[in-house]
Amino acid sequence: MNTKIKPAPILEGKKALVIGVANRHSIAYGCANAFRAVQADVGLTYLNEKAKKFVEPLANELEASIFAPLDVSVPGQLEAVFDEVARKWKRLDVLVHSIAWAPKDDLQGGLLDCSADGFAKAMDVSCHSFVRMAKLAAPLMKEGGTMFAMSYYGANKVVANYNVMGPVKAALEACCRYLAYELGPKGIRVHAISPGPLKTRAASGLKDFDILLNEAARRAPLGELVDIMDVGYTCAYLATPYARRLSGETLYVDGGVNIMA
Ligand SMILES: NC(=O)c1ccc[n+]([C@@H]2O[C@H](COP(=O)([O-])OP(=O)(O)OC[C@H]3O[C@@H](n4cnc5c(N)ncnc54)[C@H](O)[C@@H]3O)[C@@H](O)[C@H]2O)c1
Repeated sequence: MNTKIKPAPILEGKKALVIGVANRHSIAYGCANAFRAVQADVGLTYLNEKAKKFVEPLANELEASIFAPLDVSVPGQLEAVFDEVARKWKRLDVLVHSIAWAPKDDLQGGLLDCSADGFAKAMDVSCHSFVRMAKLAAPLMKEGGTMFAMSYYGANKVVANYNVMGPVKAALEACCRYLAYELGPKGIRVHAISPGPLKTRAASGLKDFDILLNEAARRAPLGELVDIMDVGYTCAYLATPYARRLSGETLYVDGGVNIMA
């Protein structure tokens, strides 16, 4: 993107809650940055005290008006975040779910070796947490809104070493469709976003991730890798009225890799 062009304030005054910033490389940071660039107010969460020192400078940089702890596996924390949104913003326009986790042994072994407990934990943090968030966010989206969850190509096709995250992302994409169906009457649109590979901390947990990166760059019709701002601006566009008739999609932000045989 030509960074000299100042983005138009297409989401001025809209309230965007972005979950999943760990550091400057996070896809969630690209989303929050893009929403701020088009003049939305952003709210960020951080996983725990250890993560806070990395996320706080980014929250300050983006003038985040909400900054709260959130580990979705800690009972009550999600509710507390949405209580704060209700108190401070009194409404919500955009929700971004950009989190994923699986126990290391369950992630790095094949699906056959994934334990029941590891499978359930991966599904809870990476998928069902989005359903819980959607339930809390929907009543605040009084004038409609847009919700996003980050998926990956491994949801639909087998990607070596993606292992348990493949079925988990498949479930996440299906949840987006069912939520789009249930929330459509309230004017709320729900999308899965499927970015191409990006060098983030979550990605570093996947074996041979560099091979995926090289392959994606080589196979992309557009000839290069995507970056986190590409993902962010796609979400920003989808949250505008220009995209008001789109819902329940899985949108690939991958330079076209997914169309290739
Ligand atoms: N990096 C890629 O190549 C890629 C490609 C497609 C999709 N994705 C997806 O994008 C999303 C964001 O990942 P990323 O690549 O930006 O990595 P990242 O490590 O920057 O972000 C992952 C986030 O998940 C959060 N998280 C983990 N467990 C949590 C919990 N219990 N409660 C709350 N938050 C928790 C972490 O704190 C972190 O902020 C994930 O869903 C990932 O699967 C990543």
